[in-house]
Amino acid sequence: MSKLLLEAKNIAHAFDYQLFSGIDFSLHEQETVAILGRSGSGKSTLLHIFSTFTRPNQGIVNLFDQDIYRLKEDMIESIRRYQLGIIFQAHYLFKGMKAIENLEIATLLSGEIIDEKLLERLEIQSTMNQRIGELSGGQQQRVSIARVLSKKPKIIFADEPTGNLDKETAILVMQVLLEYIEEHNAALVLVTHDENMAKLCQKRYRLENQKLEQF
Ligand SMILES: Nc1ncnc2c1ncn2[C@@H]1O[C@H](COP(=O)(O)OP(=O)(O)O)[C@@H](O)[C@H]1O
Ligand SMILES: [Mg+2]
Repeated sequence: MSKLLLEAKNIAHAFDYQLFSGIDFSLHEQETVAILGRSGSGKSTLLHIFSTFTRPNQGIVNLFDQDIYRLKEDMIESIRRYQLGIIFQAHYLFKGMKAIENLEIATLLSGEIIDEKLLERLEIQSTMNQRIGELSGGQQQRVSIARVLSKKPKIIFADEPTGNLDKETAILVMQVLLEYIEEHNAALVLVTHDENMAKLCQKRYRLENQKLEQF
């Protein structure tokens, strides 16, 4: 049996209205899971709950066998930094710095080296000496993905990572993510509204009427 990495039990959360309740979810090594759903259904919120950023109103999230919302903030920070790869809609790249310097920050923290093959694969090796502000949105997105993967995370949480990319580049990014999962015995949770991207994952769920259903 492959190892259980994430287990969420009986999750409920509301903001102005009830987003969802009674949600159970698990993720094992090597698994790739897509979560689909309409805008406003709570996909991003659910991803934030799974990935240490939002404490749910109800329920438990175990990451690597630890009940994360009962851990001290510095422990959560350490898990987030070393074990999780977060690809959210905002890039959080340093705009005034070169692409390569943005990657060096990530690898310095994790003690890894920059994977030249990964840069080639993402077709961004020629952008490395340009400042982030000079790159196109799609190039910036790929630099941010390279930065996340350079840390060698165990779980990747990606929120619409291909939303701003043309179809060809979107497929390239998905392939790179899936190869990464396979090579590093990691796992992926992908939030998307794009059925074509979701089809590339092994499991698909839909967040609808406050419930998460596999289909
Ligand atoms: N931090 C927040 N505070 C208040 N309301 C929020 C917050 N985050 C999300 N919401 C609301 O929750 C609903 C679901 O948002 P979200 O999880 O982003 O959905 P999705 O990603 O499926 O579009 C939206 O109505 C949104 O306005
Ligand atoms: Mg969203």
